[in-house]
Amino acid sequence: MIIAANFKTNLTRLETKEYLIHLEKFVSDNNVRQEVFVFPTATSLDNHSGKVNIGVQNAYPTKNGAFTGEIGTDQLDEFNIKTVLIGHSERRHVLKESQEFIISKYNFYKALGYKIIYCIGEPLDVRESGEAKMMDYLASQMVGIDMDYENLIVAYEPVWAIGTGLTPTNEDIVKVHTALRLTCKAPLLYGGSVKVDNVKEILPLENVDGVLVGSGALNVNDFCSMINDADNIK
Ligand code: 13P
Repeated sequence: MIIAANFKTNLTRLETKEYLIHLEKFVSDNNVRQEVFVFPTATSLDNHSGKVNIGVQNAYPTKNGAFTGEIGTDQLDEFNIKTVLIGHSERRHVLKESQEFIISKYNFYKALGYKIIYCIGEPLDVRESGEAKMMDYLASQMVGIDMDYENLIVAYEPVWAIGTGLTPTNEDIVKVHTALRLTCKAPLLYGGSVKVDNVKEILPLENVDGVLVGSGALNVNDFCSMINDADNIK
């Protein structure tokens, strides 16, 4: 399974370093079988060796240039980063990234062979408008995206479940993931208020291949406990 931590705008460079030392030790001491990813802030990127995959939460579709506040592949290459999150709900809704821009990012990083965790998810009003409209909305977030890309991982993160403590029912997660499975073969992660308390229920669900965890992963012991839960699933 894939167990991923998105730090968002949390943890300093020093805290991230300590976190990764602890996590690497846990992963090797316990012979963890899961694929573990961490997405730290851009300022916490550093040389890293070990079993944990480090990715970036965002990058501009460029090698370098005049894009104030952004980073490109020159900065990623410095730390051998080959994994990027694209289409996260906070970038879509808070930072107003359009589907067109997301497509251009996706195509740029796909052409370079990056592993892409591509995020989709519906806001509350869309969920409340019924299942057909919700699935249409999710489909619109996949327009222009090559869902057959070999290095793709998809994360389904309902916007209303992110950082709220709310989660869809297990039945609803299965329903969406099963529908997504018909359109793509990529591993499917669930994200949105995944915590130590509910991860054991979510991980074994049909067509759930892992989780993308935000606030629930900021404490390294909690994240290790989730990895351990995944390792214990038969
Ligand atoms: P929370 O786990 O804090 O709800 O965030 C989920 C998320 O957005 C991960 O990318």
